[in-house]
Amino acid sequence: MKVYKIAVLPGDGIGPEVTREAVKVLHKLSEIDSRFYVEMKEFNWNSEYYLNYGKMMPEDGLEQLKEFDAILFGAIGDPRVLDSVSIWELILPIRKHFQQYVNLRPIKLLRGLESPLKQEVPIDFVIIRENSEGEYSNSGGTMFQGETREMAVQNTIMTRQGVRQIAEYAYEYARENGLSKITNATKSNVVIYTMTFWDQVVEEVAKEHKDIAYEKYYIDALATYFIQRPESFEVVLASNLFGDILSDLGSAIVGGLGIAPSGNINPEGTFPSMFEAVHGSAPDIAGRGISNPMAQIWSAALMLAHLGRKDLHDSILQAIEEVLMERKVLTPDIGGSATTVEVGDAIISKLKLME
Ligand code: IPM
Ligand code: MN
Repeated sequence: MKVYKIAVLPGDGIGPEVTREAVKVLHKLSEIDSRFYVEMKEFNWNSEYYLNYGKMMPEDGLEQLKEFDAILFGAIGDPRVLDSVSIWELILPIRKHFQQYVNLRPIKLLRGLESPLKQEVPIDFVIIRENSEGEYSNSGGTMFQGETREMAVQNTIMTRQGVRQIAEYAYEYARENGLSKITNATKSNVVIYTMTFWDQVVEEVAKEHKDIAYEKYYIDALATYFIQRPESFEVVLASNLFGDILSDLGSAIVGGLGIAPSGNINPEGTFPSMFEAVHGSAPDIAGRGISNPMAQIWSAALMLAHLGRKDLHDSILQAIEEVLMERKVLTPDIGGSATTVEVGDAIISKLKLME
């Protein structure tokens, strides 16, 4: 039997309630699969922790997390703490220090769900977002606060290694999954230094993979194509900020943020990877028990695929789709009136191992 050590960080808002359901699913799989066992340890590092101790995690927080095979992360964000603090002291240090330079975001219309787009087409692609540098670089500053000459500078940092490794990952992902096209999201017509460099390095990698088609769109046009012909995409490769925006748009065309999963991946396995729903902490509905746990449960499934159990990933996805197709136990965001716990239980009741 293989034992996986998982660090669980439920975080803020709806994070804890959706994470609880994902944890239940992992326990259930441990029960029904004799080859598989998860050992989970929960960490209370969130905004409440910050209000008590003045920091989002202990000094040795990353050291503690390093010991785990993977991290299941809820959501972060609380009206009592500046978003820039909770983000820059918890989630971004984990992404950056653990070299989780891939943010993998499937955009897939599950069976049983309807797209808000008029014409129903199969939508099944993945956004591969650079996750460790680019527009999310902690470089810049402000001067002359409060004066008329006040100013702010924010630098986008793109490195050859950073762009190369995400482009290579996109091509490897395509190859491993039998996909035949990479779409590069850019804006090199205007952002002439960093985005031109991005294109140049991406295209160097593209030339090394001639059997996989390559196309490039400016991100504004690409946004319209997400709506007009989403079925035409297979792998969308994007910088950190572009990937962030495109992934919310992508999730909206396949059922919304209640469904959308993500993985922050360190492909080399030097550090643990982290799995979290794309949605935030949603303080407006937190504590009411109506948040959709599917995004977080699917994220846990991505975690299992990353840990080498694609079969368990598929079992979870199959169970989610069965619940969606029955249309009996759904949360309000997708047209039902069930609670978070009821949806979690419904998914668990459908779980079975793949033959
Ligand atoms: C996401 C979120 C994060 C991001 C925030 C919480 C830092 O919006 O995972 O998409 O911008 O990456
Ligand atoms: Mn986002």
